[in-house]
Amino acid sequence: MTRLVELDGTGPRKLDPSDLDPEKGDVAVCQCGLSASFPFCDGSHRQVAGENEGVRYVYEDGDRRRVERIVTEE
Ligand code: FES
Repeated sequence: MTRLVELDGTGPRKLDPSDLDPEKGDVAVCQCGLSASFPFCDGSHRQVAGENEGVRYVYEDGDRRRVERIVTEE
C-alpha cells in the first residue's frame, strides 16, 4: 500500500533537543505522512489500519479513499 500526501515543506527540518518528548525522552518521526504535526508523529497513523497491499490511498477530511489512477499535466 501507498498513500498520496500533500506536504508544503521546501527544505529539511533540523531536529534539536527541544524536540524530545519530555516524558518518553525520544522523538517519534512520522513515516505515514498523515501527521498534522509533521515531521513528528501525532498518532494519525492509526487511520492506516486495514490498508491493503498493492492499493494506493488518499486521506481527506478524515475519510480514506482508494486512488484508481493519477493524471498529471505536461
Ligand atoms: S507515523 Fe505518521 S502520525 Fe504516526
